[in-house]
Amino acid sequence: TRPWPGLIETYRPFLPVTDATPIVSLCEGNTPLIRVPAIAERVGRSVQVFVKYDGLNPTGSFKDRGMTLAISKAKEMGAEAVICASTGNTSAAAAAYARRGGLRAFVIIPDGYVAMGKLAQALLYGAEVLAIQGNFDQALTMVRQLAEHYPVTLVNSINPFRLEGQKTAAFEVVDVLGDAPDWLCIPVGNAGNITAYWMGFCEYHQQERCQRLPRMMGFQAAGAAPMVLNHTVTHPETVATAIRIGNPANRDRARAVQEASQGEFSAVTDEEILAAYRLLAAEEGIFCEPASAASVAGLLKVKDRVPAGATVVCVLTGNGLKDPDTAIKHSQNQVKGGLPADLETLAGVMGF
Ligand code: F0G
Repeated sequence: TRPWPGLIETYRPFLPVTDATPIVSLCEGNTPLIRVPAIAERVGRSVQVFVKYDGLNPTGSFKDRGMTLAISKAKEMGAEAVICASTGNTSAAAAAYARRGGLRAFVIIPDGYVAMGKLAQALLYGAEVLAIQGNFDQALTMVRQLAEHYPVTLVNSINPFRLEGQKTAAFEVVDVLGDAPDWLCIPVGNAGNITAYWMGFCEYHQQERCQRLPRMMGFQAAGAAPMVLNHTVTHPETVATAIRIGNPANRDRARAVQEASQGEFSAVTDEEILAAYRLLAAEEGIFCEPASAASVAGLLKVKDRVPAGATVVCVLTGNGLKDPDTAIKHSQNQVKGGLPADLETLAGVMGF
């Protein structure tokens, strides 16, 4: 068997690339679909639950799927610089792929609201990081204008190649399960990923690679839930900073996905997000970031409506290591510190 060549090579016939496209890849994709029995048990009624752990991509989030294609196409079209607004993950992915492709990367972030790991990545990958006194929505408005007036290519999910790359996650789910799941639970911020998954499922369905199409269940943080409220949220707030977004760029497409799939948008509170975050780590051994746990929090919230025996996939969009501050702050567990280097003391503290 040959090593995994990255998702563009793997799904080339489904993607808008030609022999002239210089492929910029870090062997992204091929992330595991993991069974989560402790969560399935809480849902009950023989429901099978899996998580698509996209936090195992090269920069630790699903953004790598979109970025391999967006950067490859930007390079093909002769771009020398790219720009994005970001709550952190897009900036890390844009920085890594842009630098690997030899392009400059500009990232505009909301000052003080980007998790530590993500900021560290953007800096070390060599992005030019500009922090504004404003939120993600304001940053996105600004990068759209910058990309319009200056020679920089926009790589937010308004760039069509981003969603084309991200749809491969749906292909991978079907390739493993043999069909689409009954339900797909996914966190929603700028509403690109839910749109991309649906594109992927529909394409596979047309090609008869799956028999069914899932209900698309989108979950937002209660303090940043424009898709649930059906209006823009001017001051979005949530512990899940990745989805601290009040004016999603892909709102119309995501609304169409919800309608076509008979899906729903629902809100989960920060407390519910953090409970699911701790549960995934402490009972399943899976460390995701808070925004990702919204998919599991959402499933647990609406669990009584999952049909008996159904198959559910929850998307875990980012790695827990992205946000160590939140992990330490909200862990119920603490370091037992200040102990002497003494065997008997340790054994005593261990309860022996
Ligand atoms: N989960 C994580 C970990 C994210 O970083 C994001 C978005 C989402 C979910 C929501 O996905 O926007 O396609 O609905 N992060 C963007 C960023 C906004 O800048 O990294 P979406």
